[in-house]
Amino acid sequence: MIRSVVRGSGAALPRRIMKNADFEGMVETSDEWIVQRTGIRQRHVAADDETTASLGEGAARAALDSAGLTPADIDLIVLATSTPNNTFPATAVEIQNRLGMHHGFAFDMQAVCSGFVYAVATADLYIRGGLAKRVLVIGSETFSRILDWSDRSTCVLFGDGAGALVLEAGEGAGGVADRGVLAASLRSDGVHKDKLFVDGGPSTTGTVGHLRMEGREVFKHAVGMITDVIEATFAQAGITADDLDWFVPHQANKRIIDASAKKLGIAEQKVVVTVDLHGNTSAASVPLALSVAVADGRIKKGDLVLLEAMGGGFTWGAVLVRW
Ligand code: UT7
Repeated sequence: MIRSVVRGSGAALPRRIMKNADFEGMVETSDEWIVQRTGIRQRHVAADDETTASLGEGAARAALDSAGLTPADIDLIVLATSTPNNTFPATAVEIQNRLGMHHGFAFDMQAVCSGFVYAVATADLYIRGGLAKRVLVIGSETFSRILDWSDRSTCVLFGDGAGALVLEAGEGAGGVADRGVLAASLRSDGVHKDKLFVDGGPSTTGTVGHLRMEGREVFKHAVGMITDVIEATFAQAGITADDLDWFVPHQANKRIIDASAKKLGIAEQKVVVTVDLHGNTSAASVPLALSVAVADGRIKKGDLVLLEAMGGGFTWGAVLVRW
């Protein structure tokens, strides 16, 4: 059977790093509160000349380089983002143009923090369905542009950045020993919209709006939703937590990551944590974490890697990949 195999990965981050202490003169907060409640120590913040498209392009080029490929080898770009450069056209098409790519096709996916997990599952279907052979899957965000910088309950949590994978059609035997995407489970439930949303949009206010979140309410649902969807993914693949080499969760809050891993019985040393470095970068958080763990030699060819995310909508999901 056809499998969607990871051939390369990469990332791009804005130049400017903002430390927790940098918020202390802006809102009533402290480095201690932010670290204790979230595990975040710093985040990158985009300058005017750094956008979702430029960061996405940077991550795409890094992933292509690591794969030993050029844009000519790609036939589809799927970009997960909730902070597009424009309402339309899709920022994926802008990235396609920036890469000098005038063949194939490109589109955006919007599932907020779950966007990258949705995008990997979607790219896998395009590959297995025969519509694409090599896909750039990108998560790129500039959440700094939609933050209310006077709201301490949200502005300290998010950051900007981008990460990307190149997925390529390969042959597999059909079992969990195959390299590639092995299982995926996606969920959403709009009843939770008001707990995490942006209070603007083209069809309502005609403005971009700002992120609003009832953090405690999101927190209350997060661990249960994450563990449910992961257990469904384990069942689909016929594996247990012990079979995993790496758990790469959405990087929103260290406490959510720790509680989810504990509930699932995933050993602490298998959990990739980058929330301290990047904050919550929404759809970019999983591919940014992947790029760190690949670059430092933790994730290697043949490793069994579990990706997971949960966010606005609510949306949530998990993907199991043999690297
Ligand atoms: O990526 C999408 C998914 N999003 C998430 O997963 C986020 C989920 N939620 C969370 O991570 C946590 O709920 C937060 C980190 C957002 C908040 O942590 P918490 O432990 O749930 O705190 P809380 O909201 O219950 O607030 C505790 C206190 C409040 O003060 P009172 O009411 O106890 O007097 C807040 O006003 O902390 C206060 N607070 C702050 N204090 C200092 C809220 N933000 C800040 C801040 N600095 N930045």
